[in-house]
Amino acid sequence: MTPSTSITTDGLPLPGTAFIDEDIYSKERRVLFNKKWISITVGQVVPEPGDVFPCTIAGLALLVVRDRDHSIHVYYNMCRHRGALLVDQACKTKSGLITCPYHAWSFKLNGDLFRAPYFFKDEENTQPDEVTRAGLGLIKLRSVVWRDIVFVDVNGKADDFENFIQPIDERLQDWSAAEIQSLASREYRINANWKLAAENFLDGYHLPKVHPQLGGGMAGALLAEDLVLSEEIFGFVMPGGYGPGTRRDEEETAVFKSLPAEKLLYIEVYCIFPNTLILVECDFQQVITLRPQGAGITHETFADYVPGQPSSEEEKMEMIAFSQGVNDQDETLLNRLQLSRSMDIADKTHMSSAWDQSPARFQQTWLRHMSKS
Ligand code: FES
Ligand SMILES: [Fe+2]
Repeated sequence: MTPSTSITTDGLPLPGTAFIDEDIYSKERRVLFNKKWISITVGQVVPEPGDVFPCTIAGLALLVVRDRDHSIHVYYNMCRHRGALLVDQACKTKSGLITCPYHAWSFKLNGDLFRAPYFFKDEENTQPDEVTRAGLGLIKLRSVVWRDIVFVDVNGKADDFENFIQPIDERLQDWSAAEIQSLASREYRINANWKLAAENFLDGYHLPKVHPQLGGGMAGALLAEDLVLSEEIFGFVMPGGYGPGTRRDEEETAVFKSLPAEKLLYIEVYCIFPNTLILVECDFQQVITLRPQGAGITHETFADYVPGQPSSEEEKMEMIAFSQGVNDQDETLLNRLQLSRSMDIADKTHMSSAWDQSPARFQQTWLRHMSKS
């Protein structure tokens, strides 16, 4: 792990245009979202074979599919005939076939073209030959699932995923990925630029004020330490697990089995640049994938995991409501931040060197990529 070195913010944040300008957003699409490993959602949105989840991110319409063997594929959500969008909402496919609403070509879960009615016009079931069918399957993206997060590499040339993820994979070994079980997920539509959502996640300063129910208070926030795992993976660690004043005072929840006692006390929060946010605690994993839809709109998959299922349905619902309640508070806040970015005076704000190291590191990572080409 690279030790956290202090970033000089000089009080200068990114200019307001970085959050509202559609030309800058176009460049982000090209430089970040088409070139790097990006997350698009999580596996728990397609729990069963045959489940499909459509999503859009940075101008791409994608389709996440759970195959019969439980593996996950990501395809362009585009029919190979005339290019119609195949699926417009999450659903279970009928008979494991994805059927185009335009002329009814259908595709198997593994992407193969299965049927193209009246292909030669003379008989209903006349099919294109095997070679033609093989060439007209759904177009698949290079994808990897890590801790249930679905990552894709759009242009197929990003670095090896294992090398990219290794620093955080190693760091989170004690919160074993084998133990995580899906608790719930929810889709959000945020009226704010995706970068504000990432910066907010990395901002430990707002926790006592915006989310007092988290329990750590200012005493906890003051003990936060920035962590840099690699050039593209960074965040902070702070007290907040078991202990007086935490939400676990009154709850008996299952914790990660291999977590050493000293780590029971801490929350770790990371951004996997550009758009993946992950938080782990002794009894919890939270994931947010940010899907920009334009300069001022972001879709999020917000997902929670636990190392052991809650003891009752009531407790489960309470945990979900607690977690989503925190994200609802952030949603309100992000809308407020975006509004000010469209004013000429948006640059007249001041990032604090004492508190805003992680958001500043995010901005500098963004600048490094955006100034390359
Ligand atoms: S566009 Fe899909 S079948 Fe024609
Ligand atoms: Fe927050």
